[in-house]
Amino acid sequence: MHVAVCPGSFDPVTNGHLDVFERAAAMADQVVVAVLVNESKSGLFTIEERMEMLREVVQPYGNITVESFHGLLVDFCQERGITVIVKGLRAVSDFDYELQMGQMNYRLAGVETIFITTNPLYSFLSSSLVKEVAKFGGDVSGLVPDAVLTRLRGRLSARMGS
Ligand code: PNS
Repeated sequence: MHVAVCPGSFDPVTNGHLDVFERAAAMADQVVVAVLVNESKSGLFTIEERMEMLREVVQPYGNITVESFHGLLVDFCQERGITVIVKGLRAVSDFDYELQMGQMNYRLAGVETIFITTNPLYSFLSSSLVKEVAKFGGDVSGLVPDAVLTRLRGRLSARMGS
């Protein structure tokens, strides 16, 4: 496997994502973490903030880079010669949609999708759940990297104050 992509919204990156990046990086020569720019959906963090956090957490890995993309993932892959998409599967509930997307991406451009079974420690974890729990004061330490935890607390307390 040469270059693989781990795509997503990453608003924000969680330890579950990080586990998938790390395992993809052990299989591929190079891994590109690609953040979807979705103009119709505003997140808790801007694309730049998400990329900053991602860059901070993948910094120890020599073969992981972070980029953003607009539009179709397969166009991004084709522009960069990326032949493999790597996704984490947390539970059976992820499978239907992921299978459909994987089949569509193969149909569109011959780009393969490989699924990594996520670490069971993180199988319940999602960015939206982390944001919801943190918003109501729940403890999400150990579920997101420390760099994210600090920003999450800062962002949510700023929102509460405004
Ligand atoms: O973290 P998310 O929001 O679950 O990631 C979803 C993502 C970004 C992987 C998916 O929505 C995607 O690939 N979007 C890009 C647009 C695209 O290519 N759509 C067709 C998919 S078959």
